[in-house]
Amino acid sequence: MLCNRSFPIPPINKVTAVITQHNVHHHKRLDILRLFQSHQTRTMEVEANTNSSHMRAVGLDFLTKKAYTPPSWASHINPIPSHIFSLGHLPTPIHKWNLPNLPTNTEVWLKRDDLSGMQLSGNKVRKLEFLMADAVAKGADCIITIGGIQSNHCRATAVAAKYLNLDCYLILRTSKVLVDQDPGLTGNLLVERLVGAHVELISKEEYAKFGSGDLTNLLKERLLKEGRRPYVIPVGGSNSLGTWGYIEAIREIEEQLQSGTDKVKFDDIVVACGSGGTIAGLGLGSWLSSLKAKVRAFSVCDDPDYFYDYVQGLLDGLEAGVDSRDIVNVQNVRVWAMQ
Ligand SMILES: Cc1ncc(COP(=O)(O)O)c(C=O)c1O
Repeated sequence: MLCNRSFPIPPINKVTAVITQHNVHHHKRLDILRLFQSHQTRTMEVEANTNSSHMRAVGLDFLTKKAYTPPSWASHINPIPSHIFSLGHLPTPIHKWNLPNLPTNTEVWLKRDDLSGMQLSGNKVRKLEFLMADAVAKGADCIITIGGIQSNHCRATAVAAKYLNLDCYLILRTSKVLVDQDPGLTGNLLVERLVGAHVELISKEEYAKFGSGDLTNLLKERLLKEGRRPYVIPVGGSNSLGTWGYIEAIREIEEQLQSGTDKVKFDDIVVACGSGGTIAGLGLGSWLSSLKAKVRAFSVCDDPDYFYDYVQGLLDGLEAGVDSRDIVNVQNVRVWAMQ
């Protein structure tokens, strides 16, 4: 959510830009099937000097791998990804959201990342554009990732892997009662199974005992022994490389504002926080670019201190030289829900 205020003090209820995403609906099943049956996966590498924004604008760059050049304001960040895969339908629109009873001088705008593509929709695809390019560059033949039983990130990763002709192994967390049962074909599981992902279940208790890092490493070792070349993507795709997805999103918003006819300026960006990568990228990008909007995150799982530390790790991994607490404000949404 992007917010635009015409007064200097930034109270949280005077905001103007929400980042949205949605789930895949079951009734899309036939469309998805048709898509995967008719789609012959072929990847195309675009020369570094190709006019990539034009390619993106005319829709010719979907599933192409391109050399990556960061925005000028991010050129000191290290490391800079060498390539990006075009997986999302970008740029996503930004539009005003005419909510009733908004305080005076307050506008709310939506950045429609739910329109970034049906199977990959939402914020996951932006991170995967960088993570998948890295996996391909490293010669991976399969992807491993992990999350909750209905993780949107796992579904998006499974679809992206299929597009790129890579196998996908998902470790999905479920209840102790259900861990030995067939998880069925509901929601994201339907899509994951349609695209042929290997699904392994883990109970919440085992997940808490081992942690996601050890679990993915165990699976990686097993696959290596089988002669595979696995590439591990962490929970939510939230590592320093995935953070570039939302640094790029800030470039996208900046360009949209610059090319728009109306002079719109956002004071705040409001977003949910689940694994931390989205706010790390938005916070850093907004801080470094001309946007300078404050990123306000609502944590849906861990507490704010956990996220300040986690985001700090992502920023340090990019040698960003900024303090997470200076660039994002995290609030626990569960506290709000209880009030
Ligand atoms: C709409 C929306 N915004 C933001 C996020 C958080 O992203 P991240 O996992 O990078 O914190 C999510 C996570 O699921 C989401 O669904």
